[in-house]
This record gives sequence, C-alpha cells and structure tokens, in this order.
Amino acid sequence: MGVGLMVEIRPFEVDDIPAVAALEAANQPQPWTEGILEDELAAENRSYLIAEDEGAFGLAGVIGFAGVMVVGEEAHVTNLLVAEEDRRRGVGKVLMLGLVDAALEMGARHLTLEVRSKNEAARSFYAHFGLAPIGVRKGYYGDDDALIMWVHDIDSETYAQGLEAIR
Ligand SMILES: CC(C)(COP(=O)(O)OP(=O)(O)OC[C@H]1O[C@@H](n2cnc3c(N)ncnc32)[C@H](O)[C@@H]1OP(=O)(O)O)[C@@H](O)C(=O)NCCC(=O)NCCS
Repeated sequence: MGVGLMVEIRPFEVDDIPAVAALEAANQPQPWTEGILEDELAAENRSYLIAEDEGAFGLAGVIGFAGVMVVGEEAHVTNLLVAEEDRRRGVGKVLMLGLVDAALEMGARHLTLEVRSKNEAARSFYAHFGLAPIGVRKGYYGDDDALIMWVHDIDSETYAQGLEAIR
C-alpha cells in the first residue's frame, strides 16, 4: 500500500525496533521503549505495521507505526504514531486502514481504543473510522483522562463501504 509516491506500509519487523523506539522518543511524552516494543512484537494476537518514507534518493526511514491487539471479537488499537513533520499527509489513514484489515483477518468484529481527552487531533482522526466516544477513564494518564472510543460491526458491508471511501 502506498501514500503518494514515497511512503510504503509494511509489517513491523524486529530489526525496525531501534528506529521505532527513536521515533517514539522524539514524538511521545511517555515513549514506548525498545523493551516494550520487543514484548509487543513477541506477543500473541498482535499486528504491527510500519510506515516508511522511501526518500528522494532511495534512503528509507521509518516515519510512523501502528499496532492492534485482538481478543475474541474485539480489536484494540495499542499505538498509532506519525512523526510530527510527516503529519497531515494521509500516513495515519493508511496505517489505520492496514490495522483494520489486520483486525478483520484475525476475526475482530468491533474496534476500540483509548485516547487522551485533550488530544483533539487524534479524536478528529479516529472519527473518520467511525470511532465514537463511549466513556471516560478519569485520570488514566495522570495529567489527563482517557476517552474510550468504539465502533461496532467493522465486518459489516456498511463499514466496508466507509473504508472504501477513505481509500
Ligand atoms: C493522530 C495521528 C496518528 C494522525 O496522523 P496523520 O498522518 O497526521 O493523519 P492523516 O494525515 O491521515 O489525517 C487524516 C485526517 O484526520 C484528521 N486530522 C489529523 N490530524 C488532525 C489535526 N491535528 N487536527 C484536526 N484534524 C486532524 C483530519 O480530518 C485529516 O484529514 P485532512 O488532513 O484531509 O484534514 C498523528 O496526529 C499523531 O501521530 N499524533 C500523535 C500520536 C497520537 O496522538 N496517536 C494516537 C493516540 S491513540
């Protein structure tokens, strides 16, 4: 899957861990460490994707990643990050489309995630995928509440049409 000419979405491999940890450290207030990433890649029922910028002269660089965990019929987005300088280019959308495809392949029927209540960018981003707030976990992040977002029936024809419109 590609975004414009320069970005490719592919599976997250163990060799990508240092680049993704660096991306986390540069872009997240509470970054995932290499240890957390190793544990996530080794865990059951997960799918992790990388967004890689091929660069003008063929130099590849990781500019985003995302993951999903499936338990029964529920898929939980564990992380989704695009480098600050590469946002608003549609990279997040193709990562998310890849996550939904992976979740469906693993048998999920519903999709959920937690987001900081003050994270307007992510809330507006997730709304494109039908995710709506259904509850709040007070003080979940210490300095902020977690908003629980949810979308049902991602295996339905209606949802497939919505994904097609995003593609
Ligand atoms: C949320 C995030 C992954 C979006 O990635 P992105 O590559 O910039 O997203 P896209 O370019 O695919 O945006 C798709 C749409 O989402 C909405 N959106 C994205 N960022 C937005 C912002 N800052 N403000 C308002 N709407 C936004 C817009 O509707 C956008 O479409 P448009 O650019 O045509 O207006 C990115 O902002 C990010 O990495 N944030 C920090 C980490 C984070 O918050 N992760 C989610 C936590 S669970």
